[in-house]
Amino acid sequence: MTQLEDIAQKMVAPGKGILAADESSGTIKKRFDSINVESTEENRRDYRETLFRSSEAMKNYISGVILFDETIRQKAADGTPLVKLIEETGSIPGIKVDAGAKDLAGAPGEKVTEGLDGLRERLSEYYELGARFAKWRAVIDIGRSGDRSIPSAYCLNANAHALARYAALCQEANIVPIVEPEVLMDGDHDVDRCYEVTEAGLKALYAALFEQRVKLEGTILKPNMVVSGKLCDRQASVDEVAEKTLTCFASAVPAAVPGIVFLSGGQSDEEATAHLDAINKAKAASDGRHPWGISFSYGRALQAAPLKAWSGKSENRQAAQAAFSHRARMNGLAALGEWSEASEAEAA
Ligand code: 13P
Repeated sequence: MTQLEDIAQKMVAPGKGILAADESSGTIKKRFDSINVESTEENRRDYRETLFRSSEAMKNYISGVILFDETIRQKAADGTPLVKLIEETGSIPGIKVDAGAKDLAGAPGEKVTEGLDGLRERLSEYYELGARFAKWRAVIDIGRSGDRSIPSAYCLNANAHALARYAALCQEANIVPIVEPEVLMDGDHDVDRCYEVTEAGLKALYAALFEQRVKLEGTILKPNMVVSGKLCDRQASVDEVAEKTLTCFASAVPAAVPGIVFLSGGQSDEEATAHLDAINKAKAASDGRHPWGISFSYGRALQAAPLKAWSGKSENRQAAQAAFSHRARMNGLAALGEWSEASEAEAA
């Protein structure tokens, strides 16, 4: 097995998933605003250090952590690099390398992700800093009120092309690329429209990855689940989400891909856990038709509870760690298809 394949397999080790702690400066400020904490470099460090020092969660349920540029360079209060704290728990440090979604020229309302210029040099620096995987997020919106012109094939293909260029550069640098084509759940579309757009986006992505000679065995897919738009009158049930998500991915994701780690995308904590669990239960009942490891790479659905418990106060550190450990354990169970609502009440 190559180093890339080995890392990719470890990222989806049974019962483990990824902590997305790579909020950009703007996003972490929004999260801190919600708890009335100022977004200073020290506060960001204290909060993230609290998460990475949650040894129960990190050792048992978190295979890797996606960091932001600032965090991969930061030291804990006692001077230990945060990357080292993560490595000491047995978890793998990763890095967000995209520069965000910008307006796509000639396509009003659509986005393309930037960040390819200078990426080769940045990747080699990140490798030196300890990153063994990376993340690049493409953002695909779905038109409102039945407008089928969004997303355009142009938008899907431009984003797939950028994701593939990023992935090829990562593999050249011995870094596993997480490819993330996120179809947003904002909007009033139904679950079948989400299915259609997710499938088209994935097919464009795997065509581009093939064309650009990316070895799928050394990649991880980070997609949305197939869910109803938040504003849709009819919300698909947990079982329908699981069934449609697996059918969609079976048609579009090659068997060579070692793992699929879902984003939470605005689902509530428990919804994100229930969906992941139902997907893994349906996978287990499908006689090996779904070959990839299926787990989580959650940002909000892992951090909402610990962020609130912490609220910027050092005396709340333990409470924040307990909240994080609980959600990590729930999602670890869901990654095995062994979660139930009753698990939420069980003590660790
Ligand atoms: P959410 O789980 O909050 O959607 O974040 C995951 C992520 O990394 C999005 O790029």
